[in-house]
Amino acid sequence: MTTAAVRPAAWDRWENRVQTSAHPVAHRLLRAIAARGPVVRVPRVGVVVSDAALAREVLCDTTHFTKTGPGSPADLWTPVLGPSVLLNMEGPDHAALRRRLSGLFTPGYVAALCERVLAQPLAELTHRLRSGEEVDLVRVAQTCAGAAICEIVGLPVDPRRFATAHAEAAEVTGMVRLWRHSMTTRQVARAREVLGRLTASAVTAYRRGGEETLPGRLRALGLSEEEARGAVGAFLLTGTETLVSFVPRLIAICHDTGRLDGLGDGTADLDAVVEEALRITVPSPVMLRSVARSAEIGGVPVEPGDRVVVATLLCAQAYGPFAPELPHPPEVRRLWFGAGPHFCLGMPLAMAQIRAVLTAVLAAGPTDVTGRRTARRVLIPGYARLTVKLRSAS
Ligand code: HEM
Repeated sequence: MTTAAVRPAAWDRWENRVQTSAHPVAHRLLRAIAARGPVVRVPRVGVVVSDAALAREVLCDTTHFTKTGPGSPADLWTPVLGPSVLLNMEGPDHAALRRRLSGLFTPGYVAALCERVLAQPLAELTHRLRSGEEVDLVRVAQTCAGAAICEIVGLPVDPRRFATAHAEAAEVTGMVRLWRHSMTTRQVARAREVLGRLTASAVTAYRRGGEETLPGRLRALGLSEEEARGAVGAFLLTGTETLVSFVPRLIAICHDTGRLDGLGDGTADLDAVVEEALRITVPSPVMLRSVARSAEIGGVPVEPGDRVVVATLLCAQAYGPFAPELPHPPEVRRLWFGAGPHFCLGMPLAMAQIRAVLTAVLAAGPTDVTGRRTARRVLIPGYARLTVKLRSAS
């Protein structure tokens, strides 16, 4: 699966391959289900929602829909991380923890974090491209993720740690399967061991305190040691593979639609292109909820214990092909970061990291995608390899 040529709608074909390589059956099945209507009950899967407005209603209605009931993310993460890690909380406890965390990813902190963590790997990226080297952006994104993990768990940001840090976090997310409601006993034990190792340094940094590490900041924000450890675990699970998936796909889409050059010479709107690429890729392609009280979704009755599969990817892609010049209607706006009380806490950090990597690629000069391979049977769809090279060096 390699190509250097840009053909019409190449972005669409490649994105489709990214999805079908990751979930050969589930992706086609979801599309077939969505074709039957915006809300469809599917035996053993759940009630599948593929309409943006209805998805938003479900995500914002915590009286009827919860992340803690049967078939919800709590089934997956509580055995591994304990009961209070945002992802598996609802109600006043969740709101109180979110309030205390609202001062975490401030614009100033996020900018300083990116500078501290990404400056070295991204300077190296620009340098390698300028030297005419072919660079694998998946490796670069993994390195950046590893660097961010060191920061999140309060370890010194040391390039020798990046690869292992990323591999360990990826191992845990890799245990989850789209249709599985929970992990096996062996997986839980392994996930606890890996995350226990990763978050042990967070506990040390928390106990030391101080504003210079993220766990120290969590302590200053009033989180208990257990809450801080849980928050760090949640950041590792939600903020690692999503970015490793998205960054290479963003560059690939920009290349395939001829937007990379426009971004380089400043004629294309970088923020609009990034948002639109997020709409097309939706790195976190589904969100799960459990029905807490009888309700209706778009006229379809649901009962306590039913599982709701919000097919965010399908909700967002229903708004047509890649077109950064078109504004996003309110119902779909930033749905790829969720909606309601569980809206992505790390969005400011994610956006800053995305901009930083894109800017580092553009700083090298006009580049082309020279090769790629999609990742097979992974939870978060993406490329296994995506190489770019300076055009004059091609
Ligand atoms: C492109 C990158 C990212 C995407 C697409 C993304 C997407 C999402 C989505 C869809 C949710 C809501 C899930 C739901 O309601 O079921 C979420 C929640 C969350 N995200 Fe992100 N995320 C990204 C990056 C990050 C990063 C970098 C961090 C932090 C380091 C992060 C931290 C979180 C946390 C802690 C939650 C749980 C919030 C809660 O339950 O209250 N995310 N993310």
